Amino acid sequence: MRSTALLAAVLGATVPVTAWDPFGHQTVGYLASKYFTPNATARLTSLIGLSPTFDIGDAAAWADTVRDREGLPWSKMWHFVNPRADDPTTNTCKLQYPSDCPRGNCIIDAILNQTRVVMDQSAGIAARRNATMWVLHFFGDLHQPMHASGYKAGGNLVRPVCFGPMETCNNGTVPGDKVWNLHSIWDSAIPRKLRGLKETESPETDKKAAMLWAEEIYERQQIEGIEEKEQCGSMGCVVDWAGESNRLVCQHALSKGEEWVLGHDLSGDYFLENAKVVESQVGKAGRRLGGWINALVDILDQFPPEEELTEEENYGGGDL
Ligand SMILES: *[C@@H]1O[C@H](CO)[C@@H](O)[C@H](O)[C@H]1NC(C)=O
Ligand SMILES: *[C@@H]1O[C@H](CO)[C@@H](O)[C@H](O)[C@H]1NC(C)=O
Ligand SMILES: *[C@@H]1O[C@H](CO)[C@@H](O)[C@H](O)[C@H]1NC(C)=O
Ligand SMILES: *[C@@H]1O[C@H](CO)[C@@H](O)[C@H](O)[C@H]1NC(C)=O
Repeated sequence: MRSTALLAAVLGATVPVTAWDPFGHQTVGYLASKYFTPNATARLTSLIGLSPTFDIGDAAAWADTVRDREGLPWSKMWHFVNPRADDPTTNTCKLQYPSDCPRGNCIIDAILNQTRVVMDQSAGIAARRNATMWVLHFFGDLHQPMHASGYKAGGNLVRPVCFGPMETCNNGTVPGDKVWNLHSIWDSAIPRKLRGLKETESPETDKKAAMLWAEEIYERQQIEGIEEKEQCGSMGCVVDWAGESNRLVCQHALSKGEEWVLGHDLSGDYFLENAKVVESQVGKAGRRLGGWINALVDILDQFPPEEELTEEENYGGGDL
């Protein structure tokens, strides 16, 4: 048991890895779709088999759903990157690519590889469908700072932390026996509190909240305008975006130090400061994903359209 825990600490990958709540991923999907060109919308609709019961938000959250249902051990490493030099206690947040992505087994290469599958007309429609949904998902993960941190397995081992009054939080355990760690605070507690959602809401409530959040972020982005460099379809940008996420851990998530994080109610000032970071990252993820998909579709448009998914292949519809 002890050696397993130790190994988990060293490898990082063997601890359960979550991601933005489905709610966060859905928001990224809805936001991205607001940036899609008409051709991108059409392409994704046929590629994924989007329908009213399986929309772009569901497609962006799909990867975690199948992981939870099927395990998918081979894809665990795809959701994050663990930079080895990271040590926020000395204010070191430093992503080095490709050395921090051993054997190409991290989220950066996962985005690349799956993008290639989407573009590969010989790959078969079902594989391309999965690949498209992986890409939608990984843009969300890439922008969750703890997914780009090598410190204590992306914060999974910074625990227990308290998201509520210290005396009631029972060392990080909240009703429902959920033990918070720094990773799950960022995946779930901060975005949900920001949007007034309890830990357990109906899927319909979460989905409506995701649509509304995407709408609000989009309107704000329209007013603020988009910088040209945010619309990027090249590999270098993915590495830059991962580095930006990584640095947010030193700048915000662990700026007060681990001791502080373990000893304070994170639903107070910590929440207020970092909710801004979360919203900004969700906004960037959606906008950049929109640009990425548009760039990809521009290339695909030079080729004939996809064949239709058969009923059997379109297993996602209504199955969530
Ligand atoms: C949209 O797709 C159609 C058909 O695939 C293509 O003829 C057209 O040029 C595309 N439009 C743009 C703006 O790329
Ligand atoms: C991406 O593809 C390369 C080359 O096939 C492979 O070495 C690497 O492990 C792959 N990574 C992921 C995350 O799929
Ligand atoms: C797509 O992903 C699902 C869920 O993991 C899997 O069952 C299916 O075999 C995959 N299809 C292809 C062609 O990769
Ligand atoms: C919380 O953890 C501390 C240190 O491990 C321990 O002394 C204390 O009894 C725990 N409190 C509760 C309510 O479990």
